[in-house]
Amino acid sequence: MKIKFLIYRYNSQKKEKLKYDSFDVPYNKGMTVLDVITYIYKHLDSTLAFRYECRQGICGTCGVMLNKKPVLSCSTQIDQTLETQTIEPLANFPVEKDLIVNLEPVLKRYEKIKPYLDKIHKVIITKKKSNESKAFRKCIECGCCIAGAPEITQSAKGCMDPMSLVKVARYVTDPRDGLDRKAMAKKNGIDKYSDEIGKKLTLLCPRGIPIDEAIKLLKK
Ligand code: SF4
Ligand code: FES
Repeated sequence: MKIKFLIYRYNSQKKEKLKYDSFDVPYNKGMTVLDVITYIYKHLDSTLAFRYECRQGICGTCGVMLNKKPVLSCSTQIDQTLETQTIEPLANFPVEKDLIVNLEPVLKRYEKIKPYLDKIHKVIITKKKSNESKAFRKCIECGCCIAGAPEITQSAKGCMDPMSLVKVARYVTDPRDGLDRKAMAKKNGIDKYSDEIGKKLTLLCPRGIPIDEAIKLLKK
């Protein structure tokens, strides 16, 4: 059985017109989106540009849109019941080439929220305390939440993106950090996140991070 994949093609350096190329790919049970992309690259078109590293859902480099939904391509299996499927670069990012996006705007926003421990307090962290930040520490910075939040990333100017807010929540729950992170969150538009957006983002996160809980925590 073959599945038809429509793949987004664009080269920002050549300023080409965006197009979709169609490829018929033989389906194997358990096939992931990354398997499809590498099959196309190896057997059908070696000019296809895409990113991946670990193949284990850990490095966060392989995010794409599968049928308009952000996913980690290495750990998302193909739904064999759909005859035609689309694979596109992550939404809400500028595209560099084909499935590769430019991370610079996001990293600039990320820098603003100081994504590291600052004004460090020397304290002993108990297991209970450590568990409070555990879920937020699982973020692999894949950008899937950003791709799934057009309400925030396209219209709410000056508002921190969901990846940044998870990082802020991670430090709010770490007693070693000495910054007023909740004030930082307020200043960076945390109130623009509704409960609905929070729930939607939580469902999208491939690491199962409760982004809705992070939003509630920062709004408190
Ligand atoms: S919160 Fe989840 S979806 Fe967002 S960047 Fe981190 S791991 Fe990816
Ligand atoms: S290749 Fe590393 S998370 Fe997918």
